[in-house]
Amino acid sequence: MLAVEGLRSGYGSIVAVDGVSFGVGAGETLVLVGPNGAGKSTTIMTLAGLVAPLGGRITLDGVDVTGADARARVGHGIALVPEGRRVFADLTVSENLLVGAHRLPRSALASGRARVLDLFPRLGERSRQLAGSLSGGEQQMLAIGRAIMSVPRLLLVDELSLGLMPRAVDDCYAALAALQRDGLSIVLVEQSTERALGVADAVVALDSGHVTWTGTGLEARSNPGLLSAHFA
Ligand SMILES: Nc1ncnc2c1ncn2[C@@H]1O[C@H](COP(=O)(O)OP(=O)(O)O)[C@@H](O)[C@H]1O
Ligand SMILES: [Mg+2]
Repeated sequence: MLAVEGLRSGYGSIVAVDGVSFGVGAGETLVLVGPNGAGKSTTIMTLAGLVAPLGGRITLDGVDVTGADARARVGHGIALVPEGRRVFADLTVSENLLVGAHRLPRSALASGRARVLDLFPRLGERSRQLAGSLSGGEQQMLAIGRAIMSVPRLLLVDELSLGLMPRAVDDCYAALAALQRDGLSIVLVEQSTERALGVADAVVALDSGHVTWTGTGLEARSNPGLLSAHFA
């Protein structure tokens, strides 16, 4: 569904991602792992259209979206849950969800909202609460809900569990499982690999902007030493 071929990307003269290739099937979850600075966020941001690619090709169901900007990518069905969640603290849960739906026709708002609240009932219970007063896990759920409001086919998640309490991490992975059951294709970036590998159909390890290992989730899970051998 998603094909990334020879992706090069970076910031000014800094090339942070150099020749990265991978594919994600419909309904599949690909986990992108690697040490700090490996290029995981740059890859995700380039897929979301927030960092301009320097080379390579990104296609979605055969449609070339390499040159599309972030706004157009949302139209193609790509949504991002950014690192650090970035919910609007001074807006309510309900208002945060509306921000994610600003491109939707009014007629689609109610069904988008219903889907999010069906996936994450706790957001419904807290709909009038300010996002800033939510727990870390609830904020992450809201960030995911906001992304889902645009009715994506491909969800990009940067650092699902970073900085969260163990219980909140459980909530986030429960939320992710709900999205997997719902049939979404997912690219998940995690620095802490153990939990992420448990939900992976495919795994790509990055280091210094290069792919150092690619395999199935099963392969990664059955060889615990394999990935650490590819990390600095
Ligand atoms: N806004 C930026 N400007 C310049 N360099 C950046 C910027 N963001 C990231 N980098 C550099 O790009 C490389 C990859 O970073 P990043 O993609 O954030 O890695 P990861 O998410 O795997 O920790 C690092 O060397 C980092 O210093
Ligand atoms: Mg990062």
